[in-house]
Amino acid sequence: MTHTSEYLETKINNALEELNYERDPKSLFDPIQYILSLGGKRLRPILAFMATNLFNDDIDKTINPAIGIEIFHNFSLLHDDLMDNASIRRGKPTVHIKWNANTAVLSGDAMLIDAYKYITKVDTDVLPAILDVFTTTAMQVCEGQQYDMDFEKRLNVKESEYLKMIRLKTAVLLAASLKIGAIMGNATDSDANKLYDFGINIGIAFQLKDDLLDVYGNPIDFGKNIGGDILCNKKTFLLIKALENSNEKSNAALQQWITAENFDPKVKINAVKEIYDDLKLETLTDKLIQKYYLAALNCLSEVNVSDEKKEQLLVYTNNLMNRER
Ligand code: IPE
Ligand code: IPE
Ligand code: MG
Ligand code: MG
Ligand code: MG
Repeated sequence: MTHTSEYLETKINNALEELNYERDPKSLFDPIQYILSLGGKRLRPILAFMATNLFNDDIDKTINPAIGIEIFHNFSLLHDDLMDNASIRRGKPTVHIKWNANTAVLSGDAMLIDAYKYITKVDTDVLPAILDVFTTTAMQVCEGQQYDMDFEKRLNVKESEYLKMIRLKTAVLLAASLKIGAIMGNATDSDANKLYDFGINIGIAFQLKDDLLDVYGNPIDFGKNIGGDILCNKKTFLLIKALENSNEKSNAALQQWITAENFDPKVKINAVKEIYDDLKLETLTDKLIQKYYLAALNCLSEVNVSDEKKEQLLVYTNNLMNRER
């Protein structure tokens, strides 16, 4: 049978709750328990389960890699929030704010180690393939995160560079979740790779939407502070297009905001957002999201299983494109 995302979300949440991080030293493990207990969409485990489920009715074996992937994702959030100077995640204080920067670093490191522990709890016949996908992906995420940081200091980031950066920092982990799920379901290489490509396109659309919600979202639904990317001068699709498409006056204003050392955060966010509004960048971004979503659907259509089996994955990814959180 094909499982719904709601069922799979409960399945991964139950498994995460059973992990025991109530141990000493508390200052190392409490933050891990904290971040994992704050929820989150559990998108990557859900994708892994759904990929297995395309090929196999039995999805139970996917639980260990699914846990590993979610722990890895949460590790990346601890370090990401420190790097992005973000104080709120999932509606609660980030780990480096609730504890301190050293805690976010070391508890994050411990999570990366535990991620490997669960990723490798698979049958030996699939272990080499799964380790290969996961290790390659984990390094790519680091590469993407470094480009993201490097781009903060640049004014001439091109759309193509941005797309490469978000493919690395975000899309490859969604793609790897699907591929790992497919491998656990004994899919053919061809189907596993088509699902990987589906995940890359969904992942690029997902990060574009994240950038959009960072400006136009509601902080209660989104669970993060609005305008964080603007304050860090993140070269989001919006800012790149604003720098490219603005008239002389707006362009000068943007450059001034990007280089300003002392400013009221609210004033900067509003000023930059007004330029985005004038250039109708929300609509432009939505169009690009749609383009990647359609490319994703194309990849999925080439996966050699019945439409009926793909139904839940289609419903889930469609909802993801229209998400508010
Ligand atoms: C946040 O990921 C980091 C990005 C890649 C945008 P999610 O939006 O999946 O965060 P949670 O896990 O649901 O909180
Ligand atoms: C995050 O991108 C990508 C990773 C965590 C690897 P963002 O920095 O945009 O994610 P959020 O918005 O903080 O969740
Ligand atoms: Mg961030
Ligand atoms: Mg970031
Ligand atoms: Mg973001």
